Amino acid sequence: MNRSIISGTGRYIPPKLITNFDLEKEMNTSDKWIQQRSGIKERHYAEPGIGSSDLGYKAALKAIEDAQIDKSEIDFIIAATLSPDHYFPGIGVLIQAKLGLKNIGALDVRNQCSGFIYALSVADQFIRTGTYKKILLVAAEKQSANLDYSDDGRDLAVLFGDGGAAVIIEPGNSDEDRGILSTHLFSDGNYIEDLWMQRPSCKDHPCFSMDMITDKKLFPTMNGRNVFKTAIVKMPEAVRAALDQNNMTIEEVDHLIPHQANDRISQMVARNLKIPVEKVIRNIERYGNTTAASIPIALDEALEQGRIKPGDMIMLTAFGSGYTWASAAIRW
Ligand code: ACO
Repeated sequence: MNRSIISGTGRYIPPKLITNFDLEKEMNTSDKWIQQRSGIKERHYAEPGIGSSDLGYKAALKAIEDAQIDKSEIDFIIAATLSPDHYFPGIGVLIQAKLGLKNIGALDVRNQCSGFIYALSVADQFIRTGTYKKILLVAAEKQSANLDYSDDGRDLAVLFGDGGAAVIIEPGNSDEDRGILSTHLFSDGNYIEDLWMQRPSCKDHPCFSMDMITDKKLFPTMNGRNVFKTAIVKMPEAVRAALDQNNMTIEEVDHLIPHQANDRISQMVARNLKIPVEKVIRNIERYGNTTAASIPIALDEALEQGRIKPGDMIMLTAFGSGYTWASAAIRW
């Protein structure tokens, strides 16, 4: 079976910059608190009227150009987001329509911060089996539209940012030792309440009501301490699963790209794995937590900066709502 390679990458970050000082004007927080707890200095917000599908579409155009393919060659789309334009359908079909592609399948993945690696794993299986030849994988989030900017929601509101990224996945040459070596997916649904958006829920009748707005039931909520404690254990576990599968040691990893949840989490994951922090790609300072999009944004940026060279060993890992967590080992 052919290994899958990432043949093109792209990102789109909306232009509107929001600094910690801007958030200080909205809620009782401070630049110092945010930086100390998360490492974030600024993030970008998309304007009203723009959806995560628009961010994903713009990133997709860049990935298509980078892969030097014609968009008509794409034979499948996978889209990961927790902030879709609509309750249904998902953003996969919206991106398909914006690209003017006809009849190809479009799959939506809903695994929150782990969404990119889950989607990558699905793409990898389709490429390995020869089902598809050029898959567009998009991860995009517009978090800013549904955060509680009052003191009640400040724990979450300061962390998140908007952005999109895309990759093209296709079969590599069988004589080259590169590509996606393995992916590893995990979940534990006993902890959904630690990080969730409880409403709207089909359990309610009616599903939407005015008191959801007055009672602030429509905002996501988080048990930050539980998320922190679990993330710093589960991401290293996922990485160790990938190392074991590939008979590799952590010393052989050139770049660790963790989901940019919080810089303190990334640093603790590095410490737990005993990987030098210089090998960890970290850009949350400038983007905040862009959820499913954070890993492909970091990958695209690291490639642009020339940090990743052909033959380098890359390890991706993520943890998020669900709980879900994952890893992927990629020889570039
Ligand atoms: N600004 C100022 N003060 C705040 C803010 C804020 N934005 N948010 C919370 N506080 C206050 C709290 O209300 C609390 O006040 P109190 O002591 O008067 O009750 C105080 O700060 C301390 O709150 P804690 O929750 O104890 O703070 P902690 O040190 O645990 O930090 C944080 C909170 C940053 C959320 C931390 O738990 C954390 O890093 N958790 C990980 C969560 C995370 O990174 N999630 C990312 C999204 S999930 C994902 O991507 C995997």
